[in-house]
Parts: sequence; C-alpha cells; structure tokens
Amino acid sequence: MSLRSVSPQNPKLERPHSHLTHGLLSVILLLCSVLFGVPVYSQSQPTATAPAITVTPGTQTFVVWGDIRFTDPAQCDTSDPDVRQTIVQAIAAVDPRPDFAILTGDVVYHGHDKSDWDIFDKQTKPLRDAKIKIFPVIGNHDVDGGSGRPDFFKHFGDFKNYPQLEKNFWYSMIYGDSLFLMLDSQLDYRADSPQGSWLRNMLKGVPDDLEFLFIVLHHPVMSHASTGLGRMRVCKGQKTTFIAPHGVDQNEKNLKLMLEEFSQSHPLTRLLVFSGHNHNYERYVEKRITYVVSGGGGATPYLVKRDPGDAYHDSGPTFHYCKISMDDKGLAFAMFKLNPEDGSWKQGDSFQLPRLSRALSQR
Ligand SMILES: [Fe+2]
Repeated sequence: MSLRSVSPQNPKLERPHSHLTHGLLSVILLLCSVLFGVPVYSQSQPTATAPAITVTPGTQTFVVWGDIRFTDPAQCDTSDPDVRQTIVQAIAAVDPRPDFAILTGDVVYHGHDKSDWDIFDKQTKPLRDAKIKIFPVIGNHDVDGGSGRPDFFKHFGDFKNYPQLEKNFWYSMIYGDSLFLMLDSQLDYRADSPQGSWLRNMLKGVPDDLEFLFIVLHHPVMSHASTGLGRMRVCKGQKTTFIAPHGVDQNEKNLKLMLEEFSQSHPLTRLLVFSGHNHNYERYVEKRITYVVSGGGGATPYLVKRDPGDAYHDSGPTFHYCKISMDDKGLAFAMFKLNPEDGSWKQGDSFQLPRLSRALSQR
C-alpha cells in the first residue's frame, strides 16, 4: 500500500469546509514550495528534501505512543515485553479505528539489529491486521550511531517512495485542517541546516487560520524527568536496571523559541508538540502551546519529579497510549494508562481544545 489517503469510514464526520481548508492548505504549501524553494508535492511524488503526505480523515481519530524498544523478550530490563504487546493490542482495538498511529521514536532497542526489527514486525502485526497505518519519527535508539537509519526506513514500507528519508527522516502530513511537521531530532534545526531551513519555510507557509499544528519529534521540548541516575525494579520485580532520564537539549530549547514565535504570530492556531525519549508521561501548557511527552510504550520506566506546571501528577511508571479525537467543536485528548500488574486500563489524563479559527469566523 502506498502513502495514500485513508478512506473515510464515516462520511458524516467529513465536514464540508474541511475539504476547503485542506485545499487551501495544499495550495499554500505549494506556493511555499515555489516562493521559498521548499519541495512540496502530492503524496505520490518523492521530493528531494521532505515528503508531503496527505491523509484524508475518516474516523477523525488518531493515536500517539512511543519508546517501545522492541527487542528480545529476555531483555526485560530494557523493555517490558508483556507491556509493549498489551499496548499494541489495545491500540489495535481502539474504537473507532484510528486513521493512523504516530510513534514518537525509539521503536526498537538497537536500530542496526535485524533481530530487534524481526520482533517489531511480529509484535506490530495486530496494527497491520487492523489496517492502522503508522507514521513514526526516528529516535536515538533507532539511529544507533547512524547505522540503524536504513533499517528504520525499510521497516515502514509506506515510505518506500521517499528514499531521501533513509538519511533525513523529516516530513509533513496534512490531515483535514491539521498540519503535522514530523521532525528528525537527531539532526538540528539551525536556520542554515537543511531541516532547519525546511522547518522555517513550512512555518512561514502556514495560513493564519490553520486550526491545528502538530509538531512531532523524539527528543522532548519540555520535560522534567531528569532526576539523576538511578535504578528501577523491572522484569516483574526480579531484576533491577540502570536508568538515566534526560533533560531538554539545547537543540530543543532553540526549537521552543521558534515555536513560541510562531504561536504568537498565529493566535488562531492550536499548537501541540508530541515527543518521547523520557519513558513516562508529562503534559505542560506554556504560552498557548501544549507539550505532551509520550514515552511509555514499554521501555524501562523513568520516574518524573512532577513540576508544578505538569498537568499530570501520578508518581511511578506510566505505561500508556494517547487517543486524539477531532470533530467540529475541536480536539479531545485522552491518555489511557495501563496497570502492568493486572492488565487493567484507566483514563490517566484528558483535555479538550476547542477550535479557535472557525469559532471566530462563525461569530
Ligand atoms: Fe530516546
């Protein structure tokens, strides 16, 4: 299957003017390509720098999860094999069926290791069976010193028409009246870098009335999981393992400033940033931007010393996935948390973001 539009499952959910906005967005992105030299093509054409993919909303639902680290189940001190499989099965059973699932990176433990990818192929079968497409960003474990990039590229067959992603895994996605910018956080965003130049030009091309802009990258732009080195009991309490949560890198601190500038100039656009890398869940709202760290897909949990600004307060591990539903009113977000002891689920966090642009135009 190529990178095609997802067929609408429920035509009633298709809003008439979402096509218009989508059309306008496509035209503006195309103009952007002409004016700023950004190669933007239809989804069937490969580009020199960044593919632009179109996904037609069907159920208007998508899922976000990450930091799974598929690997040998015997290595339960790096990733819990039962947890990651339970989460995959839960995503495959989400109702209504998600139009797609976003992976925030660190898909496998060693990106260069064929056996890790064999386990990925085997354990993600429920998603393929449910016909849920995966749109990933690449993480540090996927890159694995650089040698893992070609394997990462190969294992997402929908990208086969975009060979440039083998080296530079960034791309954009249009989904109704939403735009996704999927970044490669192994590379930087400086203005003179290829990705930085592309990102700035894409942001410049965003229309004032875009409803939702999603930025997705592996490394967090906001996180407070860095509590120093420590150890965690894993493997059903039979072992301990070393953990070293991550702070926010300078690259992402610079990106944050860029996003704040964008948000200030686009008061009608809801901006959400999804990342992973820290193996837990965090949510912040700062300067109108929502930041979600979703890194609880199975990798050894990191503990978070909750910042007062974190909308989520649970201590301990947070194995989870996020479900985002969109309709005429706006966006509804829910995080579902797995209890690894008994396999039960509960809603761990939720919030809603009403549309701003359309609400204003309807006054
Ligand atoms: Fe990571």
